[in-house]
Amino acid sequence: MCGIIGYIGSKPAREIIINGLKRLEYRGYDSAGLALVNGETKIFKCKGRVRDLEEMVSKSSFNGTIGMGHTRWATHGEPNELNAHPQVSFKGNFIVVHNGIIENYATLKKHLQGRGIVFTSQTDTEVLANLIEHMYIEGDLTAEQAITLALNRVEGAYGLVIICSKEPDKLFAAKKGSPLVIGVGEGENFIASDATPIVEYTQRVIYLNDDDLAIIRKDELILKTLKNEQIKPEVKKIDLKLGEIDKEGFDHFMLKEIFEQPRAIHDTFRGRVLPDHSGIMLGGLHDVLETMSQSERIIIIACGTSWHAGLLGEYFFEEYTRIPVEVEYASEFRYRNPIIKKGDIVIAISQSGETADTLAAVKLARQKGAKVIGICNVVGSSIPRETDAGVYTHAGPEIGVASTKAFTTQVTVLAMMAFELGHLKGIISDSYYKELITELVSIPGKIEKALGVNEQAKELSKIFRDCHNALYLGRGYLFPVALEGALKLKEISYIHAEGYPAAEMKHGPIALIDENMPVVVVATKDDTYEKIINNIQEIKARKGKVIAIVTEGDEIISKMADYVLEVPETLAAFSGILAVIPLQLLSYHIAVLRGCNVDQPRNLAKSVTVE
Ligand code: G6P
Repeated sequence: MCGIIGYIGSKPAREIIINGLKRLEYRGYDSAGLALVNGETKIFKCKGRVRDLEEMVSKSSFNGTIGMGHTRWATHGEPNELNAHPQVSFKGNFIVVHNGIIENYATLKKHLQGRGIVFTSQTDTEVLANLIEHMYIEGDLTAEQAITLALNRVEGAYGLVIICSKEPDKLFAAKKGSPLVIGVGEGENFIASDATPIVEYTQRVIYLNDDDLAIIRKDELILKTLKNEQIKPEVKKIDLKLGEIDKEGFDHFMLKEIFEQPRAIHDTFRGRVLPDHSGIMLGGLHDVLETMSQSERIIIIACGTSWHAGLLGEYFFEEYTRIPVEVEYASEFRYRNPIIKKGDIVIAISQSGETADTLAAVKLARQKGAKVIGICNVVGSSIPRETDAGVYTHAGPEIGVASTKAFTTQVTVLAMMAFELGHLKGIISDSYYKELITELVSIPGKIEKALGVNEQAKELSKIFRDCHNALYLGRGYLFPVALEGALKLKEISYIHAEGYPAAEMKHGPIALIDENMPVVVVATKDDTYEKIINNIQEIKARKGKVIAIVTEGDEIISKMADYVLEVPETLAAFSGILAVIPLQLLSYHIAVLRGCNVDQPRNLAKSVTVE
């Protein structure tokens, strides 16, 4: 998500911070800001990219030897200057840059507003800055004491760097859930959300742990826990080249993003699930939930991978809410004068929030009187601004063109929407609702396990690297997964691949099967399991090579298939999220072996802003 860099030493901080922000820009780029200390503390911030900030700062001669900067990927509040970081507390004593989400910000904000404190932004970060200031003033505390007290009241995730203007010889840094690393120099120190902006100055780093608080001076480092226990800093030497680190050691962004899925999905449901698993609360749908529950039809519109997530959405909504669903390619929908009745719900799914066809379809649906709901990843992008309500996936920036974590987080949101609505309509009982939520919460751990097939997928890729065609089959919830698996393979390895409902194979694709045809069968255990066994037999009878994605411990299909990749057992509703993991890994490794440009495949773009 957001990028943070802080510096304290004797060199001009401004240049170090701007350069650092440029290196961190891949983490977010909707607004940027910095604070410099030199007697007084001056703040510069703007909407847009780091180069816009650089241009703004270049008009001032102000500099300092202490400072911090931030490049934002918005979570709370649209990208604009007011919501950009640093955020300043109401008396101006605390200046904060933050990466993460303060989950209990609404409660804290209400409490502080009750004390007469006025807020100027929509960010959760300002709530934290004001909470610290409030404690500082009320308790007559030191900055360190106020920060510690405030952080003990905060729930959620944060990587923070804080300047107290009354104690301007130090930077405070704290971490929970969002990474922070200190760069240890000679007479100077750095702090950043990853080592990218630090390695050109020092190779000696300290990784902060959750609940650590660092007090950083130019020639002194104090590390404590939030319980005020002193910690001995463990300095490590990093041996990474610039440019490698932004991929956090992975060879490609795509692989990094595949491996980020446990975290991404956790961020999707974080703060939206009641602690006792008795309910889901999607704040962005609050005003439309009642209308949704009375709707007689849902239309889902999207493109590419998001359309595949939409197909899974159809299965969810029909099963759990009994509302009929249609899933449409946005490009088709917008040009065929679709019939939309008042009371119809349209759900637009888009990672980027900028896809031209989806955006046009959203505008059309609204003109025709539908309530339009967005499921997007990029906060403040065009689609969320055009819709009546929406839910962000909070997957973090997706850089690889082939979408991975965007897909699984979209599916997570669709499942949550269907469960919440189904429960509201009385179709899902309290106990089943709780069972579904409990399983949802276990999904990040199960994905972690599913990622364990990476080495096996790599081995398999050696066998299939030179194939010219591949068939992907699945039934029920696993049919959209078959489509997505085939899309991943063709996008990045340029092998022709088709996804099909397994039973439909008999009506055409079976003619293609021979001993050279790899057939990937997504066959984890659900209601369609028995049926798909028959389909595998039909393929084997024609000498096709079967690669089966199965549930851990499966004995029947494991004996029939030529190769198997296992995923943990789960409820049918989540089978797609788990089964897609081996398919992502398989296509990734095949593409790497074929020497393809995995992150930027030919002819494709991450965000298609032309129709
Ligand atoms: C492009 C991307 C795909 C993506 C599709 C829809 O084709 O390469 O990965 O699925 O656009 O993008 P969206 O941002 O609307 O989800």
